[in-house]
Amino acid sequence: MQHPALLEVRDLAVEFPIGGRWTPVVSDARLTLAPGETLGLVGESGSGKSITSMAILGLVGELGGRVPRGSVRFGGEEVIGASPALLRRLRGERIGMIFQQPGRSLNPAFTVGDHIAETVRRHRGVSRADAWKRAVSLLDRVGIARAAERAGDYPHQFSGGMCQRVMIAMAICCEPNLLIADEPTTALDVTVQAMVLKLLRELIAESGMAMLFISHDLAVVSEVTQRVSVMYAGQTVEDGTTGEVFSAPGHPYTRALLGSIPGAGRQQRLRLIEGSIPSPTTVITGCRFNPRCTSRIADRCDTRPVELKRTAAGRYVRCVQADAVAQSLVAAS
Ligand SMILES: Nc1ncnc2c1ncn2[C@@H]1O[C@H](COP(=O)(O)OP(=O)(O)OP(=O)(O)O)[C@@H](O)[C@H]1O
Ligand SMILES: [Mg+2]
Repeated sequence: MQHPALLEVRDLAVEFPIGGRWTPVVSDARLTLAPGETLGLVGESGSGKSITSMAILGLVGELGGRVPRGSVRFGGEEVIGASPALLRRLRGERIGMIFQQPGRSLNPAFTVGDHIAETVRRHRGVSRADAWKRAVSLLDRVGIARAAERAGDYPHQFSGGMCQRVMIAMAICCEPNLLIADEPTTALDVTVQAMVLKLLRELIAESGMAMLFISHDLAVVSEVTQRVSVMYAGQTVEDGTTGEVFSAPGHPYTRALLGSIPGAGRQQRLRLIEGSIPSPTTVITGCRFNPRCTSRIADRCDTRPVELKRTAAGRYVRCVQADAVAQSLVAAS
């Protein structure tokens, strides 16, 4: 049975002024998240993952960009062009966000306890004392030892991994329905990374919140998520269950990404695909991946844009050869 969607992103485009003109950095993103589901969002650096998450929070305008078309529906309500009151309710309360640069999100002038308590107070009309109590209990829940004492410390007194735990506590303090975690473990060393991932999985399991997990690390994505959405140069190019996408990728880009998982160092960024992602100002006719694609068909892939289509296997793939590729993979396996 199909769940009603918690989040539905359709035909989303985001533009920024680059070189004096409005330039698309996201041109066609599509995401769906059911309540309680964990979706991975992957793609090379610059593919538009963070900007898509900013659009979900209605933050594009504040970053100096605009959304010329598309829709983001959260809990049935449209986020694009929504009122400030709705956006306030979404941010921090119904959607918790762990931003990609944690260093920028903690203010060195405030204690870690204040960060959490203030977020609680902003969304819930509780007293200072109650907000502080909640902050301490959240710090304890995210694994900060001696939480009552440590709540009075400043961010510089915390390690990178501890700061990330504070960020997680802030993101979940109002019991959101959705947690967006943008590269939550990338800046951490491998052991700390594993602990933070374990914490995230526990929190998801006990709260039932959905998670949009943005990461370069395909090994982690395959462990943590139920579905995965792949972005390339501002477009969603594949979307399906994690098991199916990883075992039989339908888009040549997904295949290339999976082929580029470094065997040893999971930390390594994905740089092993021939060529590089085009800059937003590069004009590409046809499929945006065609200049780098080893399966491209001349006079077909480079002549007209390619739509995201549902394949016979129930997957979404943006490739003219999607069904043929999926079938040949099934036949080969
Ligand atoms: N404020 C901005 N003004 C102009 N261009 C921007 C702005 N923010 C992002 N971009 C551009 O939008 C594109 C997508 O950026 P985004 O941060 O979403 O990528 P990403 O997929 O999250 O990459 P990474 O994996 O490195 O975090 C990039 O080309 C980036 O340079
Ligand atoms: Mg990013």
